[in-house]
Amino acid sequence: MSTVIDGSVSSPIMNEQELLALEQKYCSWGDTVHYLDPPKLFERAEGHYLYDREGTPYLDLQMWYSAASFGYGNQRLNQVLKDQIDKLPQLACQYLHEEKIELAAAIGRLNKSKFGLDGRVHFNVGGAQAIEDSLKIVRNSTGKNLVFAFMGGYHGRTLGASAITSSYRYRRRYGHFSDRAHFVPFPYCFRCPYDKKREDCNLYCVDQFAKNFETEYNSFWDAKAGESEFAAFYAEPIQATGGYVIPPVEYFPALKKILDERNILLVDDEIQMGFYRAGKFWAMENFNVEPDMIVFGKALTNGLNPLSGVWAREELIAPAVFPPGSTHSTFSSNPTERGVLPGADSRTATTLPESNWRHQRRGHGAANRNLP
Ligand SMILES: Cc1ncc(COP(=O)(O)O)c(C=O)c1O
Repeated sequence: MSTVIDGSVSSPIMNEQELLALEQKYCSWGDTVHYLDPPKLFERAEGHYLYDREGTPYLDLQMWYSAASFGYGNQRLNQVLKDQIDKLPQLACQYLHEEKIELAAAIGRLNKSKFGLDGRVHFNVGGAQAIEDSLKIVRNSTGKNLVFAFMGGYHGRTLGASAITSSYRYRRRYGHFSDRAHFVPFPYCFRCPYDKKREDCNLYCVDQFAKNFETEYNSFWDAKAGESEFAAFYAEPIQATGGYVIPPVEYFPALKKILDERNILLVDDEIQMGFYRAGKFWAMENFNVEPDMIVFGKALTNGLNPLSGVWAREELIAPAVFPPGSTHSTFSSNPTERGVLPGADSRTATTLPESNWRHQRRGHGAANRNLP
């Protein structure tokens, strides 16, 4: 079969050179494809392997940056998606469908059981857009737009997400970012930013952060008003794109104590580390702190549908403060997410016992296609 566009015929049996020649001419190079020269073409994916046009298998160690954590070609998850496409594939966002409600309730109940907090879920499409939505929730609930984030942290490449992602190379061409995050050294003990050793550092990095608030002359804190100029701290629990760096287990509780004292929200970016990537449903659970907001995407649907979302504590997201229409995407609550949530064998995210999951994930690696 061939496709006709503008009178020219393209055939699926073009050879690799012909395809690359067309790509050179017609595809933007602004995405990440041209990190490799020549770009690599793949044809098929199964389990944890990608296959090129010659059928050579390539082990995907990152599993599409954790978007396909539950395996390529995962039959159960694919089937859920296929069934949903036949039943209710699309629905405009102003209407409701049970799949959206069930998924939000599953995550809400899960977080209540884990953190003891009531909250709501707000959906969008793609991680960076969910980060944008979370920034709106922060701004709306605090009236402030400055945030902390980590050096080495990655939160996406829309304009708002680029402003809180540490690498300057993602901002360099796009003008002045007046609300760029204040970047704080990540607790990378193997290469400690303060040249300390974990054995006797006493979390020196946390003390350094606390010092920001000691006097108004450090520029973060108005002691008379008892108020910080900063509204939130954006954190990946385990730094992903920045090099898969695990902080010491005591770090986040110590940081959270300071944030609570200064009335600063902790926004937990689980877009890459959530959904059991770090052994627990949320990676932050490994560190015993309760985040104020959680942003997620990627493996929520095993990458089959770019659904993403934000869970926020009730007081930050209740309809009285975050009213209808606060954000919107035509695609934001598409129905194809139902059941694709890994572990949601029937109707809730908690259906599959978590211990089971942990065992399976640790025992079989990141991407056994039979896992769910
Ligand atoms: C931690 C984290 N946050 C945000 C994003 C952005 O997500 P997306 O690429 O879906 O926009 C990513 C993507 O790699 C990520 O790893």
